[in-house]
Amino acid sequence: MCGIIGINSNKPVSSTIISSLKKLEYRGYDSAGIATLSNGLINEVKSEGRVDNLEKNNLVQNMEGTIGIGHVRWATHGIPNSINAHPHSSQNVSVVHNGIIENSTILKKFLVGKGHKFKSQTDTEVIVHLITEHLKSENVINSIKKTLKLLHGSFALGIIFKEQPDLMIGARRGSPLAVGYGPGENYLGSDSYALKSMTNKISYLNDGEFCIIKKDQVEFYDEDGKKINKKVLELTSEDQKYDKGDYKHFMAKEIEEQPLTLKNGINEYIDNSNKNINIYNFPWKVEDITSIKLIGCGTAYHSCLMAKYWFEQLTSLDVNVDIASEFRYRNHRFKEKTLYIFVSQSGETADTYAALDLCKKNGMKTCSVVNIIESSIARDSEFVLPIHCGTEIGVASTKAFLGQILILYIFALKLGLLRKDIENEVFLQKLNDLKSLPELVEKTLKIDNKIQAISNTFNEAKGSMFLGRGFSYPIALEGALKLKELSYVHAEGYPAGEMKHGPLALIEEGMPVVVLAPRDSYYKKTISNMQEVIARGAKVLLITNKSKDEVLSENIWETIEVESANEDLLPFLLTIPLQKLAYYSALKKGYDIDKPRNLAKSVTVE
Ligand code: G6P
Repeated sequence: MCGIIGINSNKPVSSTIISSLKKLEYRGYDSAGIATLSNGLINEVKSEGRVDNLEKNNLVQNMEGTIGIGHVRWATHGIPNSINAHPHSSQNVSVVHNGIIENSTILKKFLVGKGHKFKSQTDTEVIVHLITEHLKSENVINSIKKTLKLLHGSFALGIIFKEQPDLMIGARRGSPLAVGYGPGENYLGSDSYALKSMTNKISYLNDGEFCIIKKDQVEFYDEDGKKINKKVLELTSEDQKYDKGDYKHFMAKEIEEQPLTLKNGINEYIDNSNKNINIYNFPWKVEDITSIKLIGCGTAYHSCLMAKYWFEQLTSLDVNVDIASEFRYRNHRFKEKTLYIFVSQSGETADTYAALDLCKKNGMKTCSVVNIIESSIARDSEFVLPIHCGTEIGVASTKAFLGQILILYIFALKLGLLRKDIENEVFLQKLNDLKSLPELVEKTLKIDNKIQAISNTFNEAKGSMFLGRGFSYPIALEGALKLKELSYVHAEGYPAGEMKHGPLALIEEGMPVVVLAPRDSYYKKTISNMQEVIARGAKVLLITNKSKDEVLSENIWETIEVESANEDLLPFLLTIPLQKLAYYSALKKGYDIDKPRNLAKSVTVE
């Protein structure tokens, strides 16, 4: 997704802007650009594709200027090409923008009427022309204030001005924006990760705020233009040096890091000496919560679905799950005794944030399960459960998924105990079982060879299906999502019991179907569903767990066995072969595994 960098310094900025843009590459993008001010002029260079293309451009290599802005673009309005890439500039002003200006068509009409000529197909260019128009009669600050008032939609902006060589403006509504402080220079960034290599001192803009960034000073203003003070936060250094190590891709590394993710989560929340779960400073009384609503997007939504099964099994709470982009526009009966849980790796997903905002405005109890604790969702929820999995760079989420479901499982266990929905003995047994989970995942990770061979069949197929029942159903959805994200193969996740009501018509000779049938309480039912697809010609890859009992079915194409564990923990183990299947499929096709086409890591537009 789009990313912004801005630097106002006393030394040349172009090479630092380029290296910071590379830090934003993980978000997924299709073009990049940079603008600096030198000798009283705005210099702008843009290119399609990777930041490397931009860097190779001679104009960038010789670019002067001690103030500048850079951008990676993920196309929304207008195709991905160098003209539509940001920055967009007039003679007087240059702008980078994340988000969407919803009234850009009307504004463009008005500006064209005033004689402004547009070069791109983007919504962003209206911002450039609006500021330019206002600058005819106003000073810089008033031009910005007037422009922001006219914009509908969401934005994070970085702006520089020809006539103001020591001044950069940042503004936020909807899309996140951070300010960083360095020696003799200050920065603007769409997330703190991009700024971490330059500084660990950060402030965040809230919705409606804007800031003036000078080399030695930053001023913040609220929506009404009133000067405000901001806290400077010190970031932790743990994520600063995250690299691929000896792995070919971040995704491969992140898959292998999962035992560590689980160990970190367990160490953080489980108190071994007191045999309890520590959830400190929980702000509500458990009696005041009678239902739970879990909300997320993409993989995080699948974590929510997974958690529903555990919350229903371990507590007597009513549990509902929603996709954030659907939740935010529906009519809700907000209930005082509902706890709204927002699940998000990045903590910046626009739809999830909007759903959180809606709940807050309606006075609801809000809690988030996030990886980035400095994120907007974490900062704006009343209570945060961090997942502690470290930086995740691969666009397709892997270790964050296991981190999310671990924390949700632990939370369900704790609420079950506090509400007396489960016996203390059951609680202690489950807590004890959980301790062996990292090791079980570690062993399951060794299943590589077989999966590499199997992945060919999926690559060559027109489409594939992933089936599961009960605890395995959300994992089937996640497995199908991983395959389509990475190898661009059509893959559909379905509850195995629902096949007869439509999808069975898709099954034809040789179609690869993954059946998740661990030896849990759904096992026999799933095996029956598996036989139904085998009978119609499907090539079934059965994923189950190790057992002394043979699987009673004929004509299974391939079987993969994960380690055995209590039934609550099997979903963690079943996830591993599905992640690897998607990884190896994409690897064989030579696709860009860490940055799949059209996708973004942090989706900051709705
Ligand atoms: C994007 C990513 C997915 C992710 C989803 C939600 O689509 O590509 O991997 O699951 O956003 O992101 P979040 O940061 O809110 O978990």
